[in-house]
Amino acid sequence: MGVFEAVRLTDSVYWVGAIDWAVRDFHGYSTGRGSTYNAYLVMADRITLIDTVKRPFLDEMMQRISSVVEPSGIDVLISNHSEMDHTGALPETLREVSPSKVYASAMGARALAAHFHWEPDTVETVGSGDSVDLGNMGIRFLETRMLHWPDSMVSYLPERRVLFSQDGFGMHLASTERFDDQLPESLLKMEAAKYYANILMPYSQLVKGLLEKIAGMDLDIELICPDHGPVWRSGIRWILEAWGSWARQYPAARAAVVYDTMWGSTGKMARAVVEGLSSQGISSRLLPLRETHISDIATEVLEASALVVGSPTLNGRIFPSVAECMSYLGGLRPANMTGAAFGSYGWSGEAVTQLSGLLEDMKVSLAGEGLRALYVPDDRALESSVELGRSVGRALNSMIEGD
Ligand code: FEO
Repeated sequence: MGVFEAVRLTDSVYWVGAIDWAVRDFHGYSTGRGSTYNAYLVMADRITLIDTVKRPFLDEMMQRISSVVEPSGIDVLISNHSEMDHTGALPETLREVSPSKVYASAMGARALAAHFHWEPDTVETVGSGDSVDLGNMGIRFLETRMLHWPDSMVSYLPERRVLFSQDGFGMHLASTERFDDQLPESLLKMEAAKYYANILMPYSQLVKGLLEKIAGMDLDIELICPDHGPVWRSGIRWILEAWGSWARQYPAARAAVVYDTMWGSTGKMARAVVEGLSSQGISSRLLPLRETHISDIATEVLEASALVVGSPTLNGRIFPSVAECMSYLGGLRPANMTGAAFGSYGWSGEAVTQLSGLLEDMKVSLAGEGLRALYVPDDRALESSVELGRSVGRALNSMIEGD
């Protein structure tokens, strides 16, 4: 007997996951609204559990399963993705449930073995195009390597037109509501964009391929069931199109100006840069690193096509918070961007040159030479900062016209 109940999604598919209201840091990603770890129960002839939950939520998942069926009645377990938020509870689940088969991709089986140091003979590998007979229904698999792990795959239940998309089309959002159309659209847009920016942006080329594959398979989808956040019911077309648009990263008249400052000088320059960008019709976001989490900066960068970064020089180097941010953004590999670097200095001012180099490494096309101001920017230095913003704005407008 427990307090947690399953949520019926169709006549034979139930949500049996867990709601993590408290998580605020998901391996460095700020999850201000918590998250969910979604697991799904398919009440086919061979009862099937798709994915599990993070280890501390095992009991919540088992209670939800028990509200529908005795857990020992589960015959098949599918692991679409081996990251610990979906497999932390897997070893205990296997002990409690004893399914006759666990299905995972070949890379998934390898990852599970490396996580749990086991060799269970119940694990069977499946690949794209394979299917598993569940008696009155079946599950088809599609591998989605590097979206976002090498092991990732999705599962499709044609009899109920349900796509179990693991992290795909997900978001970190704790809620009592299970369907997209029960939540405000603006909230879904914000959290889905943040998720894409921080988890999927580096793999945008592969996302384009996946979306084409899904379209090519002519899947008749009624529900998309991701491993985080709400189930897509009314907004299926919207989320597929949003992912397509984020993957393409078309040039947009939008800029992110990221900076940190020691005594306010680089901050003054940053505000002047924004004035220059605005004068060219560019919608700009000024993002002070002390007050903005890097995962929120990533979201702004996803929606922007210009990245202008300011840093003071500290001991001959980029200021640590700016260096950390650049390392993070560099790994996310935003595309189709122009930008520039600026900053105040006191001795030799190496940070701006180093920052320009990092931007080039990220394939950001530089719209001007890096701008430095000695100690406190005077009127001339601030006018140069405005001009730097204008230059970036002009370069971005040319990119948009040429697209
Ligand atoms: Fe939600 Fe990649 O794990």
